[in-house]
Amino acid sequence: MSDQSYSNRLLQPFTSRWFILLFGVPMTYAIFRYHVFGGVEWSHFPLFIANKAISLSAIFFIATSYLVGKALRDSDFEPVKRLVLIKFCGLMGFSLAAIHSFMALLLFSPQNYPKLFGEDGRLNLTGELSMAFGVISLWCLSIAAITSLPFMHEAVGAARWKRGQRMGYFCLALAGGHVLVMGFTGWFKPSGWHGYLPPISLVALIAAATPLLMKMLNSVSAKSEQGSGGTR
Ligand code: HEM
Repeated sequence: MSDQSYSNRLLQPFTSRWFILLFGVPMTYAIFRYHVFGGVEWSHFPLFIANKAISLSAIFFIATSYLVGKALRDSDFEPVKRLVLIKFCGLMGFSLAAIHSFMALLLFSPQNYPKLFGEDGRLNLTGELSMAFGVISLWCLSIAAITSLPFMHEAVGAARWKRGQRMGYFCLALAGGHVLVMGFTGWFKPSGWHGYLPPISLVALIAAATPLLMKMLNSVSAKSEQGSGGTR
């Protein structure tokens, strides 16, 4: 195996360390929030609680894939390593979001998610809206994931490839809507937070909003630089 082919691989010691961080932190958080402080029985860990951690981890990976690109651009981090990290985080975010969606559908019942259902056992407005955001968010993410396949850049051309990659931003915005609608009412009652740890939906919204805010700030400053260049 050549050095080059090794350095292009997504699974490497340094990406494994990122995995431990971006998967381990949400998992530890969920365990402490729900089992240690919330008193949820451990029998609900494999699907119900793990799904909460997986969904937050998905957001962390997607957000990181956009943030590292910018943050490491001017650093002495090797460009190949940076691209590997961006791709690793993006694809890991996609696969975890897909796993989260399957797990959520297996658990989907008024007993597990009372906030999302009305008294007649059908989805209420919160459930309808938040699930619609979730499904469309996953669709946007799958477009970004498909365009990151190795041959896609040549197949669709640089401009369409870039547009496909940007669908991840729409995914984050819609995922923000997904968690905002379902979690909003609980965000303002810290006395009800298990162990005073903020709800996962709130942490997820902040993580999803960060790359979107950075992108907006970057384009505003790029526009103002262009404007000041034009008046010189
Ligand atoms: C078919 C698509 C999807 C379905 C059916 C779905 C379903 C659900 C359900 C039922 C919940 C409530 C979970 C709970 O309170 O334990 C939830 C929460 C959540 N979802 Fe999704 N989701 C989908 C897509 C997504 C995507 C694409 C993302 C991220 C990119 C995402 C991120 C989250 C997050 C962060 C939470 C908050 C978990 C919590 O508050 O504990 N979801 N989703």
